[in-house]
Amino acid sequence: MCSQLWLLTDRNILEDYPQMHILEAMKQRCKEQELDFTLVLMDQIALTVIDGKLGLQINQKIVTAYPQVILVRVPTPTVQSDSDITVLRHLEKLGCRLVNRPQAILNCINKFWTFQELAGHGIPLPDTFSYGKAVFLARDKHHLLDISHLVRHDAPYLFQKYVKESHGKDIRVVIVGGRVVGSMLRCSTDGRMQSNCSLGGVGSTFPLSEQGKLLAMQVSNILGMDICGIDLLLKDNGSFVVCEANANVGFTEFDQACKLDLAGIIADYAISLLPSRLSKEMSALSAASSPPEINETSALVSACTLTTTDGSRCNNSVSDVKEIRDSINAPKPCPPIQTDSLCNDVAE
Ligand SMILES: Nc1ncnc2c1ncn2[C@@H]1O[C@H](COP(=O)(O)OP(=O)(O)OP(=O)(O)O)[C@@H](O)[C@H]1O
Ligand SMILES: [Mg+2]
Repeated sequence: MCSQLWLLTDRNILEDYPQMHILEAMKQRCKEQELDFTLVLMDQIALTVIDGKLGLQINQKIVTAYPQVILVRVPTPTVQSDSDITVLRHLEKLGCRLVNRPQAILNCINKFWTFQELAGHGIPLPDTFSYGKAVFLARDKHHLLDISHLVRHDAPYLFQKYVKESHGKDIRVVIVGGRVVGSMLRCSTDGRMQSNCSLGGVGSTFPLSEQGKLLAMQVSNILGMDICGIDLLLKDNGSFVVCEANANVGFTEFDQACKLDLAGIIADYAISLLPSRLSKEMSALSAASSPPEINETSALVSACTLTTTDGSRCNNSVSDVKEIRDSINAPKPCPPIQTDSLCNDVAE
């Protein structure tokens, strides 16, 4: 069996909407395009270092050649575990192109790490102190003192300036391959500050301004993300500040609100990263415009098609690529793709 593409996920989330839809979309496209595809679960993988060389086993069988592209869907809480991030690092060292890359996933693991990456790039961020995970609103210093005895001292905390205008609402912007595919306004329905859909927030499609799109693309680019959900808080003057970046973006509500098939878009994007597809794209681009420099993300944009739930498709054109490349300040160069990695073969 020879596999160019993997979907790598966790058994505990395999049956959730995003993973099931990505799996279906990958299977369908790989069948149509005669590409080899394998679903791999984190707990099937064993890593080896034998005779000084990295190796891999799946279900106790030695893998003799590795996939070219691996679409990673690992929930943030588990990717924090040493074993998950070790697997991702190992696969990258073996020459596989991970989507998202481990470093990009790490950049989103906690808000403070995200802000450490974004600071200094002119990205608007709420003032933030220390670091941590819990989200609650302290209305003033006295309120904070009142509840301080409830704060667990063994857990890290992050203190952030409350963006009052954005109380109970934020914008979820989904980016694939450096380009905004859609944006959704999320509103809480019970007066609370958090607008998360998992807490009862309701999503509706949102016509994001060019300024908002540019900001979300800059954030994604600085963090090195291929696929992400950037959450923006709203200011009264129509501008935005960044709330957080999500590497393992959920999209059950997003698909409904924006009438998009995000799984299909993600699958198309992963396929477009195959070295054979990339080289075709690169030659088409250089023939069309002979640009002085094109990073991998920009090149991929032209390969990615947007698929709506009504089946219509809109292809990104070469001019879109140039526009996006020009609009993003100081794009981070991506490491070169390893074109010599072989497709995966699980030894019998
Ligand atoms: N500084 C802030 N001012 C106003 N509202 C905020 C602020 N920070 C967060 N919120 C609201 O709370 C929601 C949840 O915050 P955040 O995204 O930081 O945590 P989370 O979604 O619970 O974290 P995770 O995605 O890591 O599980 C945001 O979507 C936003 O609606
Ligand atoms: Mg959030």
